[in-house]
Amino acid sequence: MKLRVVGAKLLLLLVLGAVRAPRCTHPPRCTDPPRRYTADWPSLDSRPLPAWFDEAKFGVFVHWGVFSVPAWGSEWFWWQWKGEKLPQYESFMKENYPPNFTYGDFGPRFTARFFHPDSWANLFEAAGAKYVVLTTKHHEGFTNWPSPVSWNWNSEDLGPHRDLVGELGTAIRNRNMRYGLYHSLLEWFHPLYLRDKKNGFKTQHFVRAKTMPELYDLVIRYKPDLIWSDGEWECPDTYWNSTNFLAWLYNDSPVKDVVVVNDRWGQNCSCRHGGYYNCQDKFKPETLPDHKWEMCTSIDKLSWGYRRNMAMADIASESRIISELIQTVSLGGNYLLNIGPTKDGLIVPIFQERLLAVGKWLSINGEAIYASKPWRVQSEKNTTSVWYTSKGSAVYAIFLHWPEDGILSLKSPITTLTTEVTMLGIEKYLKWSPNPGKGLLVYLPQLPPSALPTEFAWTVKLTGVE
Ligand SMILES: *[C@@H]1O[C@H](CO)[C@@H](O)[C@H](O)[C@H]1NC(C)=O
Ligand SMILES: *[C@@H]1O[C@H](CO)[C@@H](O)[C@H](O)[C@H]1NC(C)=O
Ligand SMILES: *[C@@H]1O[C@H](CO)[C@@H](O)[C@H](O)[C@H]1NC(C)=O
Ligand SMILES: *[C@@H]1O[C@H](CO)[C@@H](O)[C@H](O)[C@H]1NC(C)=O
Repeated sequence: MKLRVVGAKLLLLLVLGAVRAPRCTHPPRCTDPPRRYTADWPSLDSRPLPAWFDEAKFGVFVHWGVFSVPAWGSEWFWWQWKGEKLPQYESFMKENYPPNFTYGDFGPRFTARFFHPDSWANLFEAAGAKYVVLTTKHHEGFTNWPSPVSWNWNSEDLGPHRDLVGELGTAIRNRNMRYGLYHSLLEWFHPLYLRDKKNGFKTQHFVRAKTMPELYDLVIRYKPDLIWSDGEWECPDTYWNSTNFLAWLYNDSPVKDVVVVNDRWGQNCSCRHGGYYNCQDKFKPETLPDHKWEMCTSIDKLSWGYRRNMAMADIASESRIISELIQTVSLGGNYLLNIGPTKDGLIVPIFQERLLAVGKWLSINGEAIYASKPWRVQSEKNTTSVWYTSKGSAVYAIFLHWPEDGILSLKSPITTLTTEVTMLGIEKYLKWSPNPGKGLLVYLPQLPPSALPTEFAWTVKLTGVE
């Protein structure tokens, strides 16, 4: 009798399981037909985000293209010069280049002569990045790979005479990092785009001849783990044909099981549709969003592409970068930190230094970051800011400044008989006592500054708390 009930329950569970489990966690054992997505947002938005992305937490963004040649102002150089016609760009050109020099003339000067993809990949790995996103094509339309539909405006025909996207991808993957491709849907001055624009985007000449062939080409050639879409804002997703592309990407592409995309697929899609959300650039929510998101930001606060007129005051400090990373992860986001290499393919030392500082911090505190989950409380502020993360039964309290009296007050964790407290990077238990009222007081180790595990932002690990 008992056995039979168990049997019936098992059967019921199996039936329910078959109905309710659209995803295969163990592909070889799974017999469910793969789920198909249809080319509409309700269906595409229902796809679970592949798990690697949330676990990765930290990535490096690379803005590199012909804009790295004038390397002045920002990667929007061409637009600001010829679109907006800003006078400072006119005079910059007059003072520094021969008369009648065109933006196209910068192309051959994008040499990438000292580009060693392995050195870049070593740096990004040392920075603690789990993924790297490269601009394959920015709004200028120049492709960093031999696109067959970007005639004489690609990195094989012109400039480097190399497949930059392919070479970097190999180096990144040799180090077990994930590889993401940034791609701009629009191109400021492409004649077909301008023609569609003149037609109020009722025609799709540009999408048919350029955008879609290149997106499919990128996916088939490089099998990206992530597509970082941009340049969507002038037209609806129906113009871009985004939902058709995404349905193919999710159903039939060679990366259907691993690929992650963002939310820039058409006017008004951002923060509403797609994979994870970027919302606007440098987006930084105050409270825990209910959808996976990523903050992208740049070490040079004024530009994503390299610019020669960068000043020290424009560079984000180590403490700003590290505290943004902590805040982002605590609020459930990923942190994508940008650098712009030079036209020669060099990464200037100030960017290297900032990236290595993140790597050094993560080498001690990574346990509280990678594969962590937001805790039930995100932050507290008393004498120092505290950001929480969690993993399994451990709760991590990351505090940004060392309290003057050496006592860290935490209000939110509820202690139990088994509560234990350690600090990442230090091999011993820390003393604690109940906080009068609520939470606990942690007696931080009394160490000379040189013996502290990091110079800024330390992690207290709590177990046996609720
Ligand atoms: C620049 O272009 C103008 C108009 O096409 C032409 O008259 C002029 O000779 C050109 N100047 C040089 C230095 O090539
Ligand atoms: C949009 O996608 C559909 C399905 O792949 C395709 O049949 C159609 O030709 C595409 N339109 C454009 C403009 O690319
Ligand atoms: C996007 O939103 C704006 C403002 O709400 C609206 O005017 C516009 O028509 C929308 N565009 C699309 C493609 O839905
Ligand atoms: C602030 O922290 C101190 C210890 O550093 C603690 O004594 C005090 O109770 C805390 N105040 C609040 C409001 O948490």
